[in-house]
Amino acid sequence: MRHFLLVVALFTFLTSTSVLAKTVAFKASILHFKSNPALASTLEDSYEYFQDGILIIKDGKVHKVGSASELSTALKNIDVVDYSGKLIIPGFIDTHIHYPQTEMIAAFGEQLLDWLKKYTFPTEKQFADKAYAKKISNVFLHQMLSNGTTSALIFGTVHPQSVNVLFEQAYDKNMRIIAGKVMMDRNAPEYLQDTALSSYNDSKRLIKDWHNKGRLHYAITPRFAPTSTPEQLEQAGKLKKEFPDTWVHTHLSENKGEIAWVKELFPDRKSYTDVYDFYNLTSSRSIFAHSIHLDDEEIQTLAKTKSSIAFCPTSNLFLGSGLFKLKTAREAGIRVGLGTDVGAGTSFSMLETLNEAYKIIQLQNQKFSAFEGFYLATLGGAESLSLDDSIGNFLNNKEADFIVMDWAGTPFQEYRMSKASSLHEKLFVLMMLGDNRNIHATYVMGEEVFNRNMKHPVMDLINNQN
Ligand code: GUN
Ligand code: ZN
Repeated sequence: MRHFLLVVALFTFLTSTSVLAKTVAFKASILHFKSNPALASTLEDSYEYFQDGILIIKDGKVHKVGSASELSTALKNIDVVDYSGKLIIPGFIDTHIHYPQTEMIAAFGEQLLDWLKKYTFPTEKQFADKAYAKKISNVFLHQMLSNGTTSALIFGTVHPQSVNVLFEQAYDKNMRIIAGKVMMDRNAPEYLQDTALSSYNDSKRLIKDWHNKGRLHYAITPRFAPTSTPEQLEQAGKLKKEFPDTWVHTHLSENKGEIAWVKELFPDRKSYTDVYDFYNLTSSRSIFAHSIHLDDEEIQTLAKTKSSIAFCPTSNLFLGSGLFKLKTAREAGIRVGLGTDVGAGTSFSMLETLNEAYKIIQLQNQKFSAFEGFYLATLGGAESLSLDDSIGNFLNNKEADFIVMDWAGTPFQEYRMSKASSLHEKLFVLMMLGDNRNIHATYVMGEEVFNRNMKHPVMDLINNQN
């Protein structure tokens, strides 16, 4: 018995002091960004690419990244996972998504306000049932990881339990996510409404239970100005003052009918953006999804308050909302991330989202390089969410969330890729033709959480809990 206790004590000591630190190396081509390629003085300063690269992970964090020749001596006594011929990049970061809308992607025929009434609200009603919410959040997180998305800023529903189950599952998977309960006390069916006071109390409870627990963070989440009374926005602003390191997540200036409605509902405010600014909801941790039709003054307000925008290409095209002006936002110094906006967005894949982003920029006669695309989907997302001190690239000590990608996910992609020569051309083909079939494996804090060869049928997740 004494021996047994000694062994237990020794093991506890060794693990707690990291004497048994876990170090693993991954061998592949490796790409990551150090800054925005569209703003860098020379493109080459903005990224690192190692054709024969090594990524060394120690205790779930990035220890070293470099070329195989440089790092060969560092590999002594370390296990090496050989992904030669594949590409490793940081995990994708989705800066705007609704997990309860997983099941209603591809709902036909409406623009924003009618789409909400006809499809979204009835779907979200189901999340009053905790067991239902648990099933869908399980499927949702699987969809994220199988598409290479390791972090996201996520809408729940008005029901606090919808966020509890999501956080529980993300906590088990050790994922860095930001999420929040919808605040909505008018202009929605009765069954989905809270009140100014209950939304304050429920959000506060969730902040206390989850904010900064492990890798989780809370976002105060008024759905959008039309579904909150001034009293509720006041309560949201009060929460932000009481918990200044929480995030704010909402929608802004997505649809022309929506903008006209906000004008009617808030006649004293100068603009849609001014509604949020007035209620203390703009900040360096505020993310405004869409922000398509902003005027100059609104852009200045977002810039001045250091607020961020989530650019959601597939959603903006699907709902016919309009073309986001990436260049204008960038020139104003506003941080922009990429969002799928599932279920108005039509894909969980950030590659497919980049494909549509490219076309939106093309329609405005501007250029959007693959370097800019992969930056936006990784470090750009981390910067826009103020998470770039922990994720987004492979700088020393960042958390090791990364994806192993197949350059070609289909025989046709392989053929097209065989005709691509430069790194940019290869990345551009990946961005325009790629999807979840290009995701070979996904790692969170250095641990594999998805692999193409594992069996994960979505219907099994639905039918068998956990
Ligand atoms: N505006 C208010 N709610 C929503 C939503 O659920 N999706 C989108 N795309 N826009 C919104
Ligand atoms: Zn949305």
